[in-house]
Amino acid sequence: TTVRIIGAPTDYGANRRGVDMGPSAIRYGGLADQLAGAGVETVDAGDLAVPRAEERDPDTEAPSRGNAKFLRETADVSRRLADAVSDTLADGEVPLALGGDHSIAIGSLVGSARDADIGAVWFDAHADLNTPSTTPSGNVHGMPLAAALGFDEFADTDWANAPGLSPENVALVGLRSVDEAEVDVIRDHGFTAYTMSDIDERGITDVTEEAMAAAADGTDGVHVSLDLDWLDPKEAPGVGTPVRGGVTYREAHSAMETVDEADCLRSMELVEVNPTLDQHNETAELATELAASAFGKRVL
Ligand code: ARG
Ligand code: MN
Ligand code: MN
Ligand code: MN
Repeated sequence: TTVRIIGAPTDYGANRRGVDMGPSAIRYGGLADQLAGAGVETVDAGDLAVPRAEERDPDTEAPSRGNAKFLRETADVSRRLADAVSDTLADGEVPLALGGDHSIAIGSLVGSARDADIGAVWFDAHADLNTPSTTPSGNVHGMPLAAALGFDEFADTDWANAPGLSPENVALVGLRSVDEAEVDVIRDHGFTAYTMSDIDERGITDVTEEAMAAAADGTDGVHVSLDLDWLDPKEAPGVGTPVRGGVTYREAHSAMETVDEADCLRSMELVEVNPTLDQHNETAELATELAASAFGKRVL
């Protein structure tokens, strides 16, 4: 296996600035060495050029954009990331995108689904199923799954809405902060969804096995989206939207080992690492370790 690392240093999709430094922090945190420890080759494609929030207008006035901030910038970066991801797959390599805020998942999913049917497993405290009309914050990092599924305002865009991805092949794992409108969406569309209570009751291995199987069913492979706020903030303090009561260090590794064992990983991303909120780069280092587990690293 060769993993192609693609940096997507966005922060205009998030509530706090600084998450654009995530790709540097994750590389500096030892990503290439960790992946070498998993026995995979890596190539680094560098970072996509991303506009600075300071030099752009959030532009929430346009009616078609609802309350979504920086939707034009999001569309532009999503298109370019989707091309990078689909080129990587066409070359027989596995794309690993580094965020950046979670809005980059739109490009990852659209690119991964360009010539294929895919599933997705969303390891996250949040559902990220808002749309420009339901968002409580205006931040697109709360919308990428809805965007890639082509919900509401995203249906008619040429940059979101991946036809190769549908809700019955999407599994959410670790939910503990879900907005009211998102609860309805999860119930109405047949997602596979596991809250923290499900993990408490059934254990992380069972839940992750089931999530991977539901996502993979009838598809060409699974995109794994790892939002570092999935972990408890004690383990992963460097995130912009921390929520107490997340998975532990051991549960996170165990889940990533289960991802590897499911043997259907097609593409992956590590998002929401914010070095300005982190302690000694520990959240970035954790992200590298978890990626290594997902790509097969074991102690023995
Ligand atoms: N649900 C909230 C919102 O839509 C928070 C989303 C947080 N998303 C994330 N990727 N950290 O604004
Ligand atoms: Mn989250
Ligand atoms: Mn399907
Ligand atoms: Mn997220």
